Amino acid sequence: MEAAARRVAVLSLLVSSVLPFCDGVGPDQIDPLLYDEQLLWVSGVQGQVDTYRVPLLTFTPKGSLLAFAEARKSSSSDVGAKFIALRRSTDKGATWSPTAFILDDGTQPDGLNLGSVVVDEDTGSVILIYSLCFHRFHCQPSSTMMVQSVDDGLSWGIPRNLSTQLGVQSFAPGPGSGIQKHYEPAKGRLVVCGHGTLEGDGVFCILSDDHGLNWYNGAALKSIPFNQTKRPLDFNPDEPQPVEMPDGSIVINVRNQNNYHCRCRVVIRSRDGGESLPVEDLYFDDTLVDPVVAAGALVKGGVLFFTNPASEHSRVNLTLRWSVTHGETWENKVLQIWARSSGYSCMTSLDSGSVEDQKHIFVIYEKGHMNYDETISFAKIHIYGGR
Ligand SMILES: *[C@@H]1O[C@H](CO)[C@@H](O)[C@H](O)[C@H]1NC(C)=O
Ligand SMILES: *[C@@H]1O[C@H](CO)[C@@H](O)[C@H](O)[C@H]1NC(C)=O
Ligand SMILES: *[C@@H]1O[C@H](CO)[C@@H](O)[C@H](O)[C@H]1NC(C)=O
Repeated sequence: MEAAARRVAVLSLLVSSVLPFCDGVGPDQIDPLLYDEQLLWVSGVQGQVDTYRVPLLTFTPKGSLLAFAEARKSSSSDVGAKFIALRRSTDKGATWSPTAFILDDGTQPDGLNLGSVVVDEDTGSVILIYSLCFHRFHCQPSSTMMVQSVDDGLSWGIPRNLSTQLGVQSFAPGPGSGIQKHYEPAKGRLVVCGHGTLEGDGVFCILSDDHGLNWYNGAALKSIPFNQTKRPLDFNPDEPQPVEMPDGSIVINVRNQNNYHCRCRVVIRSRDGGESLPVEDLYFDDTLVDPVVAAGALVKGGVLFFTNPASEHSRVNLTLRWSVTHGETWENKVLQIWARSSGYSCMTSLDSGSVEDQKHIFVIYEKGHMNYDETISFAKIHIYGGR
């Protein structure tokens, strides 16, 4: 190939692998617009449920949207008995099914906690990983559980106890999305990351190379001091959100529980499919100021999106940011989704190849006027400002 022709070929290869081009829109045109918003759950208004918290959102391989949340029965506390609530949309979020409670932990003093949702595109199954007795409050031991749907989220199987394979350490998956590796290394692997508690604080990932049948412990990023009560400003990596980058590495955006080094997010990268998280690949992202919370991250068309309450001290100001440099830099422009109380958030999008699906990302988040646990809201965002 001639040098010039080769340059053009390399350039177009680079461009097509990183930038989505449709209707002349690409990363340069990103100008997100809040297109539609609906409250999916309101705390305190439905019998049997005191508080809805910890929302998760995913597309199924068939293009349905599934929204999950913890339905806390008698208080807003992290412990206590809960349902897992599910609503389903087959028209990309325009309308939603009534709430179904797909799991019920009865009256357990320290019941279930969400959780990570991961879609296996090879089998078409939707897998939800959650914990039981995470805090070991009047119960022993902690269990890591899995429940699966093979019919687009309509019905759910019998929960499986993954602690028989993983051990009984406290592991709180997510909250947010797990990933299925689309690129080498370990293409096809399911990667679910979460955090531990006192006896073994830090970020941990569990892995499955056979579509969720068998799971094993992967990477760990341990807290310092490990297995000892933390003090303010200790290194205490907590709730993580992993994404796969176009180069096949996994970048995990992590809650910085004790504000070590900054009031901002910890970022760590795994280059071996979630088997290790070397500290050489850790940094603090000063742009991503954070009040200590679970945040959302998503890669779409080579662009990295991030949502959190963008505030150092309180859970307010839910903000969408984006990076066209894989997180090395962030665009100055941001989209404020909600100015007032806002908490945990989770994002999804559909990569069907259709022009319409290229243009949208979907956010679910905790939203309120005085407290972030008043409602759970679903937002459809047009990435290109309505173009
Ligand atoms: C899950 O399995 C572990 C290990 O066998 C066991 O200790 C734990 O009680 C089980 N949990 C549940 C909820 O059955
Ligand atoms: C944590 O410390 C306790 C008490 O020293 C010890 O029994 C336990 O094995 C330790 N756990 C881990 C995960 O190291
Ligand atoms: C909300 O976040 C944006 C982006 O960081 C920032 O410019 C703005 O000052 C924040 N507002 C509040 C009330 O914190």
